[in-house]
Parts: sequence; structure tokens; C-alpha cells
Amino acid sequence: MTVSLTLRRPDDWHVHLRDGQMLAAVADATARQFARAIVMPNLKPPVTTAAAAAAYRDRIRAAVSPGLKFEPLMTCYLVDGIDSDELVRGHAQGIFTAAKLYPAHATTNSAHGVTDVRHIYPALEAMQRIGMPLLIHGEVTDHTVDIFDREAVFIERILKSVVADFPALKIVFEHITTKDAVDFVRDSGPNIAATITPHHLAINRNAMFEGGMRPHFYCLPVAKRELHRQALRQAATGGDPKFFLGTDSAPHAVETKESDCGCAGIYCAPLAIESYARVFEEEGALDRLEGFASEHGPRFYGLPLNPDFITLERVATPVPPRIPAAGTEIVPFHAGEVLDWRFVA
Ligand code: NCD
Ligand code: ZN
Repeated sequence: MTVSLTLRRPDDWHVHLRDGQMLAAVADATARQFARAIVMPNLKPPVTTAAAAAAYRDRIRAAVSPGLKFEPLMTCYLVDGIDSDELVRGHAQGIFTAAKLYPAHATTNSAHGVTDVRHIYPALEAMQRIGMPLLIHGEVTDHTVDIFDREAVFIERILKSVVADFPALKIVFEHITTKDAVDFVRDSGPNIAATITPHHLAINRNAMFEGGMRPHFYCLPVAKRELHRQALRQAATGGDPKFFLGTDSAPHAVETKESDCGCAGIYCAPLAIESYARVFEEEGALDRLEGFASEHGPRFYGLPLNPDFITLERVATPVPPRIPAAGTEIVPFHAGEVLDWRFVA
């Protein structure tokens, strides 16, 4: 039985680090395991300019403990009619790695999101030209569409036309949750990839209702049926370079989760690589974890692989029920469970 695992240091291609006291509380959890992370711009107000992204990057760097080497990769929050020159300039200055499409009102802090994808077509044109990736929260917001169908409908109504209109645009379909998305990405060209979270590999939608309402399993896009989870596990562990690690770690204070109209988001950063390792081991694919976690993402983004390595040990690792943060607590993913792997360094 494998007792220790050495991997090239992974990167997280989708994370929410928040700001202020919450940033101070969560930054190290990501920076301990990952060398780089694509940082989501859905702050209040959202990060829509290169100057705001550069200032946010400074705050993140300041929040990470001195001993940790961590590079935040910044994203621009796309809004209706956004100035393409700002994107191009920010990208050229090395501030913006990518830009993020949130359909308006699709998820947490997305009120400023895009109301019609045509309103950002000039930006997409520019991004295609300069090779800047578009990151997509792929859900329609049409309230007549069932919440469990919103990702599949997004592919049909929006994504297919974006791909047809910008055939060379690099697109990351983020935190995919359905077999429909897996199939779409697989059947598309090499410029279309996807990230997969640890929680969508581990839970199906039943988890939200097991023995009562379970708000800590609620995130967006919401977990789907078991057949979708199985498709995601095959995609993640199958070795296909189009699929890579993106935790979508999304910390919320416990009282904002355990309340009426509780927030969407799962805080999975503290034991992210351990959680993925469990899935890969269950699928008999531990040898493919490194590709998914540390190689496919940088290759898609055109960035170098990290030069250093991390080690996981097979040690029973209890997950704390709550983690103190910003004067309150956060319930992490796998709270109260025991994982088989522990990240050591
Ligand atoms: C994210 C958050 O809390 O910012 N929530 C989530 O459920 N994933 C927003 C997002 O990525 O959709
Ligand atoms: Zn997210």
C-alpha cells in the first residue's frame, strides 16, 4: 500500500480568497498547498480594473505568511460594456491573467455580472486576439429553468454560440457539475478546458438533504445527480489534459450559511489536496493525480510547471468541525470526517 505520495506542487485554478479579515484568515490555507491560484474577482465591489486587481494582489501577498511562496493570479470581473483596452492593458502589464464571466445574479456577489453575453463581445474579441482566457460560471439565470438544469441549458443557449463566434478563444468552463459539461468539453477543441472541485467529485445532491437541510453542502453550481458525479470522477481521474484542479473554495461565516437564504459556497481549501487524493485513490488513479493537480492547468494557461514538490502521507487526518476566522468560524468541507491523507509539506 502506498504510504507516501510526492507530487509536483499543484496550483488552484479557481479560488475565492475574499478580502479584509476573511482574507487574512483563509489566505494561508491556499498558499500552504498551492504555488499559484486563479483568484476570483467577486468582491464587493467587484474587481473590474487593473488598478483594483493590482491593489487586491498586494493585499493577498500581505495576507500570506512570510514563509510561504505563493503567487496570486488575478482576474477581471466582466461587466456589460467593459472597456477592452483595460483588459488588454491589464493583461500586458501582467496584472490580469484571465477574465471572468458571471451571468448577472447567477451566484454570490454577481449582481454586477453580464446581462447578455453580447454586451461583452468586444472584450471577447480582444481576449481571443491576445490569448487571454475567459473563465465562465456556466449557468443560465432564467428562473423558469430548473436549478439542476441551469448548467446544461447554459451550454445550449450561450456557450455553444460563444465558442462558434470566437473559435480560437481560450475558455475554462469552471467548476463543472454535469455529464453534459464533461461531454461538451471533451468534444470541443483544445482551447476549451474545465476545472472540477473536490466537493463535486465527493457529493451528489442528496448530501444537501441527508437527515435534514445541510447548508454546508450548498454551493453554486449546485451538486447534481449521482450519474453526473460519476462522469466528473471519470473526467478528473482519466488523464485527459482538458480537466484540471480548481477548488472553488468559497468561505462564508457559519452564521451566514446556517440561516434563511444561506450563502452558497463550500470552504474546501484547508484539506483540498487530501480530498482530491481520496477520490483518485478510490478510482485507482493515484498516479494521475499529479497531471490533474499540477500539470494540465499550467499547460492550458501557458505557464511553467512549478519546480518544487509536495508530499502527502497516509495518516488518519481528522477534519475540524469548525475553523476560527475573522471573529467567527467557518465549517470546512469534510468537517468531522477523517481523511486518509495528510499534506505534510
Ligand atoms: C461562490 C462564492 O461564495 O463567492 N460560491 C459558490 O457557491 N461557489 C461564488 C461562485 O463561484 O459561484
Ligand atoms: Zn467560484
